[in-house]
Parts: sequence; C-alpha cells; structure tokens
Amino acid sequence: MNTTFTNSYADTTRASAYAKLEFPGTYYLAFRDLPELIETFAPMGKAIDFGCGAGRSTRFLQSLGYETTGLDISAEMLALAHQLSQDIKFQLIDDGRLNGVQNDHYDLILSAFTFDNISTLNKKTALFREFYRVLKKGGCVINLVSSPELYINDWASFRTTCFPHNFNAQSGDIVNTIITDTEDHRPVDDVLCTDAEYRNIFSETGFKLLKTHKPLATGKEPIAWVNETRIAPWTIYVLRK
Ligand SMILES: C[S@@+](CC[C@H](N)C(=O)[O-])C[C@H]1O[C@@H](n2cnc3c(N)ncnc32)[C@H](O)[C@@H]1O
Repeated sequence: MNTTFTNSYADTTRASAYAKLEFPGTYYLAFRDLPELIETFAPMGKAIDFGCGAGRSTRFLQSLGYETTGLDISAEMLALAHQLSQDIKFQLIDDGRLNGVQNDHYDLILSAFTFDNISTLNKKTALFREFYRVLKKGGCVINLVSSPELYINDWASFRTTCFPHNFNAQSGDIVNTIITDTEDHRPVDDVLCTDAEYRNIFSETGFKLLKTHKPLATGKEPIAWVNETRIAPWTIYVLRK
C-alpha cells in the first residue's frame, strides 16, 4: 500500500473552500435519502457527527431534531465549523479514537464521507469499536462512503478518471478525486475500501447491518448528471448496536 496518505482536510485553503460547499450536484444524492433512512432506523435523541468537517453534515443532523456534537481531527475544519454554527458543540479528537466521549450515551452516529479518509483497516476497525462503546444499545451508525465506482468514473461534482492509478487500485490504496464544486481543485487523497471489507469490519465489531443503500439520480433533477442516473456514487450503510 502507498503509505504517503495525509488528511487532505487538515489544510486552511481546503477547509475554507469546503466550508462553502452545501449540497450541490453529486452531493445532493448523498443527503437526499438520509432523512428517510434516519427516520426509519435511528432512535431520536443525541447524535455524533463523526468527521464533521466545517459542520455541513452537523447542521443537517441538528436540523432533523438531534442534539448533535461534531467531532473531527482537523483543527482547520473545526475552526470554521465553530464560526459557522456557534450554537452547535464541536470537539477536536485524536486520530483513531473518540477521546473524551462518554460510554453508552448516543442514539445515532452519522459519518458522512469520513471513512474515505481513514488510512488503514486497523484504524477503521478501531473506530467502529469506539462507535460501539459510545452508542446506547439499539443505537445506529449511518456510514456514508464513496462507492468504489466513484473513483473510476466522472460525476457532476468530481473528476476522477484523470488519475490512472485509480483504475488499478486495490482496497487500502490511495485514490484521488478533484472536487469541481469548490474553488480548490487540488487532488484529494482518499483510501479505497471495498464493500466486502466494510462488511467484515461491521461484523467483527459487533454491528448488525440493517440496510445498504445506493442512491441514484432519477434524471428529473435540474442537475447535469454525468453517470449518476446509472451508477451510484455513494454507499450508505445503516448499522445497529
Ligand atoms: C470529506 S470531509 C466531510 C466533512 C463533513 N462530514 C461533510 O459532509 O461536510 C471528511 C472529514 O473527515 C475528517 N477526518 C478524517 N479522518 C478522521 C478521523 N480519524 N477522525 C475524525 N475525523 C476525521 C477530515 O478532517 C474531514 O473534515
């Protein structure tokens, strides 16, 4: 595996570009179906937004009625989250653990795109153990990640086919994207993780997989889709403790 992975979001230029991002283009499909999934499977109450970035997904979760805390390892992203949402609690955590987070306390953990940026299988597994520790019995995890297909097709909001190594990448390898919806067009480092590996992590850490959802565009949206009507860019895993 390529070992030069760095968190692309620990960077002030990236953070300020990302902070302006709402739910355009391909991102719209990630958030469109979340309210129904959350309403169907997750108990209402206290929530964590794991890898909250500049707080876009935290504000989204708070707007659904959850008392939400945003956690991230990037001080750059969290500084903007604080600025944009002074009524929401955000906390800087260590990479690989939920330090300072209480046991058996939360009803829902949303992780929106965060696992795309977690470098190793061991760290992903350790984080799911931490999720198990801090969730109440019956609590849910919604893990929204990029589908492996994201990295070998182009999209309304991303370019990926300009990176030849994406096509040969194995699980654990670095893959790159360019987010065309922000002003920062430098490549973002992600780490490929297959569906089979996610499922292993879930069962190894004691979670029950309730649903795997792959959102597609209908073609009726006023967005210039590229592949979104036939290939799902995202995978949403719904898990229960
Ligand atoms: C693609 S951004 C998504 C931000 C936010 N969820 C959203 O949808 O706007 C991924 C975020 O995950 C954070 N991240 C990466 N590794 C992390 C880790 N080990 N623990 C917590 N956050 C992490 C990054 O710093 C970054 O802010």
